[in-house]
Amino acid sequence: ENNTISLQELSKEPLLAVPSHYIQLDQESPCSSPSHLMPAIPIVDMESMTLGQAKDFELQKLHSSCKEWGVFQVVNHGVSSSVVEKLKYEIEEFYKLPLEEKMRYKLRPGDVEGYGQTIANLTDQKIDWADREAMEAYFKETQKLAMVLFKLIGQALEIDKREMEDMFEDGLQLVRMNYYPPCPQPELVVGLRPHSDASGLSILLQVNGVEGLQVKKNGVWIPVNILPNAFVLHIGDVMEIFSNGIYKSIVHRATVNSVKERISIGMFFNPKLEVEIGPATSLINEKNPPQYKRMPMEQYVKYFFARKLQSKTIIDQMR
Ligand code: SIN
Ligand code: FE2
Repeated sequence: ENNTISLQELSKEPLLAVPSHYIQLDQESPCSSPSHLMPAIPIVDMESMTLGQAKDFELQKLHSSCKEWGVFQVVNHGVSSSVVEKLKYEIEEFYKLPLEEKMRYKLRPGDVEGYGQTIANLTDQKIDWADREAMEAYFKETQKLAMVLFKLIGQALEIDKREMEDMFEDGLQLVRMNYYPPCPQPELVVGLRPHSDASGLSILLQVNGVEGLQVKKNGVWIPVNILPNAFVLHIGDVMEIFSNGIYKSIVHRATVNSVKERISIGMFFNPKLEVEIGPATSLINEKNPPQYKRMPMEQYVKYFFARKLQSKTIIDQMR
């Protein structure tokens, strides 16, 4: 997973078996029940939540989705489809480029941007990526969506409005692209290992229509059938902490298949580096003592980059 370049190049030759170093034998067995028998992740309709008559009902639905699942799909999210389609197109074109071309956008030591599987920060740094314009438009529109969701979550949790804004407004927004080539023995590998996102909220877009995301609920892996024109929203560890554990971040993973490559793009919404993260003080009282430590975001980010992508490793250190 940390060597996208060679993995993608490898996949151009017909492969009969998975090279041994990609095999992860410690992986938990994939879900065995047919997907139509699995419960489906909740769907939240942004339009009826912000303007419709079913406002309170939909807000309640958002609340229970965050509480009981930590993941949901949003529809009618207001991010314009032309922005999304342009981005999808550019990303697919980018991955079709010959390796030498892609290497022009390669990461240099110390960079957090460019080609290779990593996280880029578009706010502070120059990104050299193929189509900056398409990415920037998407970056801005998803930011608006995330801010609306933060606000609504604040209402649902009854967190002081100001406190919510101080935590997440003008925060650190990161982006990551994931490219999973088709794999001859998909049952032997994991596209992306089980993990919870470190963020406040994450917005995931499945780029080329190929499914592969699974979420873990009550110990069972549930495949996510992503609706057309929907995003998948993950509650991240920072939100779990901020909600003092009322919301739980969701463990998820990506699987691969033998036929088609899969591409996804994640946007991660975090507090600013200067902010101290911890449970919202408006949620803390004698009956509800803090369940997590407080820590500067900057230090938390250091933990994040030092961790192994596995399950809920960071949040376990925060209790
Ligand atoms: C992620 O967890 O960031 C990516 C999941 C996916 O590719 O569906
Ligand atoms: Fe993730």
